[in-house]
Amino acid sequence: MNFIELTNMSHVYHDGTENAHTAVDHIDLTIKEGEFLAILGTNGSGKSTLAKHFNAILLPTEGHCRVAGMDTADEAHLWDIRQQVGMVFQNPDNQIIAAVVEDDVAFGPENLGVPPEKIRQRVAESLAAVGMEHYRKFAPHLLSGGQKQRIAIAGALAMHTKCLVLDEPTAMLDPSGRRDVLHTVRQLHEKVGITVVYITHFMEEAAAADRILVMEQGKIVDDGTPAEIFRQVAVMKKRGLDVPLAAEVAWRLRQQGVRLPERILTDEDLVMALCR
Ligand SMILES: Nc1ncnc2c1ncn2[C@@H]1O[C@H](COP(=O)(O)OP(=O)(O)OP(=O)(O)O)[C@@H](O)[C@H]1O
Ligand SMILES: [Mg+2]
Repeated sequence: MNFIELTNMSHVYHDGTENAHTAVDHIDLTIKEGEFLAILGTNGSGKSTLAKHFNAILLPTEGHCRVAGMDTADEAHLWDIRQQVGMVFQNPDNQIIAAVVEDDVAFGPENLGVPPEKIRQRVAESLAAVGMEHYRKFAPHLLSGGQKQRIAIAGALAMHTKCLVLDEPTAMLDPSGRRDVLHTVRQLHEKVGITVVYITHFMEEAAAADRILVMEQGKIVDDGTPAEIFRQVAVMKKRGLDVPLAAEVAWRLRQQGVRLPERILTDEDLVMALCR
């Protein structure tokens, strides 16, 4: 089933003025329920603008965006859409509001009017799902960036969100925080079946998705599996993007006549292929 459907959707900032700027340019896109989609693209290609349509932070200036069958431009659906699609942004310090972790995670369901008993249960489940159950009573400012991002994810889960949209959630994290956040997202995708839209500049993270979109100047210029996208090393470089190191090494080796399997995305894939 399709969870998000965009038809001929554009977003023009300052539409109708002399400063008009087309950030998303006539996009058609469907994202299936349960899919893990990564979005790549150079700075300013329109990734964040696109993603902000998925929970109606922005509305199309042309075309339509439907979430779970609801048109985001229909105000009657706003809260339903916001509940179904949770956003996680880059800066871990801008997303946590309460002074205690469990209060922060409870904030969303409280606003939804969920009864206190059920809230406690949701908070416990959500913290467990991101591996942060032992930090329930902690003050958020004592947590690492990666832990804060996992709390932000738990906050979305507590709303019983069906889809997580993460806009460069690891950009401000160290390598271990990055690994933890990506691992958490993967687990939620695999075990809970959450739909994931994951914007990143880290190619190794995009390689963990089922499907990758590549954006350029507000348009989708490529759409395929990580293996398909990262096989075209020269094309990606021309777009100003990288590929995972292992994919690049494999590409160079193939050019030297070394025969290697098609799908090499991670260091482990490469080591396995070379040892064979
Ligand atoms: N609020 C705004 N008002 C006017 N123009 C904007 C606004 N936000 C973004 N833009 C412009 O729209 C285009 C797309 O921006 P967007 O933030 O969606 O790109 P992005 O792919 O997320 O980039 P980055 O990788 O730097 O986060 C850019 O040219 C940007 O300058
Ligand atoms: Mg952005």
